[in-house]
Amino acid sequence: MSKSPLSTKSKQPILAIDFGTSNSLVGCVYNGEKTLALPIDDLNADPTMMRTLLYFPEPDICFYGQRAIEEFLENDMEGRLFRSFKTHLPNQAYLGTMFKNRVLSLENIIGLFLLELKKRAELAIGQKVTHVVMGRPARYSMDEVADGFALHRMQRACQFAGFTDVQFIPEPLAAAFDYRRNATEEKTILIGDFGGGTSDFTIMRINPKEFSKKDVLSIEGCPLAGDALDSIFMSNKLNEYFGAKTRYMLPMSSNVMTMPPNVTTRLNHPAHIVHLKDKETYEFVKEVKKCALTPKDAAGVDRLFALIEDNQIFPFFETIEASKKELSKSKTSNFKFDYPDIEVYETFSTDQFVAWANDIKNNIISALDRSLQQSGLTEKDIDLVCLTGGTSKVPLIRQEFENRFGIEKLQTQTEFHSVTAGLVEVAALWEKGQTVS
Ligand SMILES: Nc1ncnc2c1ncn2[C@@H]1O[C@H](COP(=O)(O)OP(=O)(O)OP(=O)(O)O)[C@@H](O)[C@H]1O
Ligand SMILES: [Mg+2]
Repeated sequence: MSKSPLSTKSKQPILAIDFGTSNSLVGCVYNGEKTLALPIDDLNADPTMMRTLLYFPEPDICFYGQRAIEEFLENDMEGRLFRSFKTHLPNQAYLGTMFKNRVLSLENIIGLFLLELKKRAELAIGQKVTHVVMGRPARYSMDEVADGFALHRMQRACQFAGFTDVQFIPEPLAAAFDYRRNATEEKTILIGDFGGGTSDFTIMRINPKEFSKKDVLSIEGCPLAGDALDSIFMSNKLNEYFGAKTRYMLPMSSNVMTMPPNVTTRLNHPAHIVHLKDKETYEFVKEVKKCALTPKDAAGVDRLFALIEDNQIFPFFETIEASKKELSKSKTSNFKFDYPDIEVYETFSTDQFVAWANDIKNNIISALDRSLQQSGLTEKDIDLVCLTGGTSKVPLIRQEFENRFGIEKLQTQTEFHSVTAGLVEVAALWEKGQTVS
């Protein structure tokens, strides 16, 4: 797969894809004309954004984005709904899954999604496309081998989708390119992009002059963001409702066991929940249900069984996400999940949330420290701090930046298009024969 400069004669559109853990967007450049966001999901409140979701009601039928949710509900939530699958890319133990008789490798799942984005973009611009500037996190993983493995799988997914020429660009660098568009004087900026799967940083000098690779002073990140914040509601509290502490004793054994991590991990993490339906896990939970030690132990596993059997795990995580968002505005949030046999009512407070999120915050801040270190700069050398991505709305994240850099340097880009807009800038340079990384 090459990233050759396009000859002037064979100019063709270049797509810019921000393939996000939660939301994906597509822009385009053609003959120097930039389109910052193409319509890719008419059913979405913002049609230029598609939720990164795939739904198979049957192994050979697939729906995408908002339609995936609608069909999922229409079909009584039968079949398989995949969310947050970008997260699996660096996980060498995760190859994919089986749905009935169909093997769904991760490359195929992502490839199908990218192919759909490509088709919709082609429809919008009325042209076939083979070239793409594709966003990638600063780090898919902290482990270099896993990071390379993730990129390799993304290359395979791009190939599957029919892209012959692909340039991967770190998402925070793309966001910096968006800010660079409006630069009127030389400034040193720090970009923080907090998404669903990763928190990413770039430090870059921006100026109205032509871009030089030397302007990029650092690119860093860590694979923790919005999904990890959803997950703490489960791991700290809600998983108790679903047998996380259930004790059981298998027939012919006198060992008292508790719910193993392969079940609780799946229960706690948005990217893993779909795998609670994998045959082995499902059969295992059924077995535990028969062998629970006390009625209280059984009640938890009964709820877990109902959650899986009645396909309530996706809506349950949607309710968790809504509670998390509520805590970005209010001191408390009432969590209410009202489904027969799975009634859960809790009140969460911001204090609780801040305490639970402490490790995640520290990991994110370590990535920020590495980013500053890489650049050889300190806080006082940064002129402007630009925060973007959905998770930048979380007060505990913003607070940290206010404390370190001062509120006057902070600029928040609340809309979701800055990475795509920057990828479009990179595509425009590519069209002219210049690469940026
Ligand atoms: N008001 C809010 N408060 C807290 N979190 C929010 C809010 N709005 C959105 N989010 C979170 O932002 C995340 C999605 O952000 P975004 O669309 O930037 O991610 P993404 O680009 O898909 O992911 P990534 O870049 O990590 O691959 C979700 O985890 C969502 O819950
Ligand atoms: Mg993003």
